[in-house]
Amino acid sequence: MRKKITIIGAGNVGATAAHWAAVRGLGDIVLLDVVEGVPQGKALDLWQSGPVENFAWSVKGSNDYIDSADSDIVIITAGLARKPGMSRDDLLAKNVAIVKSCTEEAVKHSPDCVLIVVTNPIDAMVYTAFKVSGFPPSRVIGMAGVLDSARYRTFLADALGVAPMDVNAMVMGIHGDKMLPLVRLANVAGIPITDLLPEDQINDIVKRTQMGGIEIVNHLKTGSAFYTPGLSAVEMAEAIIRDSKRILPCAAYLDGEFGISGCFLGVPVVLGTGGVERIVEFALTDEEKEALQESVAAVQNQMTATGL
Ligand code: NAI
Ligand code: 2OP
Repeated sequence: MRKKITIIGAGNVGATAAHWAAVRGLGDIVLLDVVEGVPQGKALDLWQSGPVENFAWSVKGSNDYIDSADSDIVIITAGLARKPGMSRDDLLAKNVAIVKSCTEEAVKHSPDCVLIVVTNPIDAMVYTAFKVSGFPPSRVIGMAGVLDSARYRTFLADALGVAPMDVNAMVMGIHGDKMLPLVRLANVAGIPITDLLPEDQINDIVKRTQMGGIEIVNHLKTGSAFYTPGLSAVEMAEAIIRDSKRILPCAAYLDGEFGISGCFLGVPVVLGTGGVERIVEFALTDEEKEALQESVAAVQNQMTATGL
């Protein structure tokens, strides 16, 4: 049966996600926004690429949630993006109201969907969607880890002069300065990066990864990254739609895993038809545990600020 993906927010990330979803052939796409004309125009343009790109999916733009009905996946990208000088936390108050209203409407029309939340600050926004939707935690997932890990892998590959797809490396924790790019487990074709790169260079790459978002904001000046964020959300959607059981780092609800409970945090999860099938828990060093606890404290502050 044909799958249906609704993307809420037809801005930079939303439109780019629609593009990647069409190219990867995930299913029929609905692009939804509050601004009249923008989702319609972008969707029409993207739909017309079908004959050239060889896809037969429909791409529809809309301002009405009726068009999103019975979606298998809903990706929420609606909200404000960062500008220079703004932290992800600065976005919280405005975006919590937006994510709340988008979630309410989305779940009304697609009660069985999996929600993928992209809007920042992501760890608090995915919590917002979880509270508002009433969905089980398996069907509410935040996107950040795929993006942060892609940045980490890119920088490592560049330093090593190897293909980025041969670098296995993961970022856990909050989507913010306190994120945890794992050094101990990062490897290239199975070879630990600690055997291949000096410590100070690895430290620089870790710091650059942690500041990966702001590096792009400072270049763009009028907004934040969107190519890899859009693709990262689609990577998660694809794993769910194809029931591929891929292990991807996602913001998932923790209920005792890694000794953490009651919040969303970036951890490795197995993605399949129902969303998060399981969280892949493994032993962390004391230093990694400490770093993850810093993420937890920051996320808990954000959760409190949502007022939910
Ligand atoms: P953008 O400004 O280009 O697009 C946002 C879109 O949301 C606009 O088209 C706007 O009209 C729409 N919108 C606002 N309120 C809405 C509502 N109530 N219903 C439907 N649509 C609504 O911003 P961009 O670059 O697409 O970023 C979107 C969000 O994603 C931001 O919060 C940004 O910080 C976040 N982001 C998160 C990442 C992550 O790793 N989790 C990575 C990149 C961006
Ligand atoms: C990023 O990391 C802005 O959170 C967004 O690019």
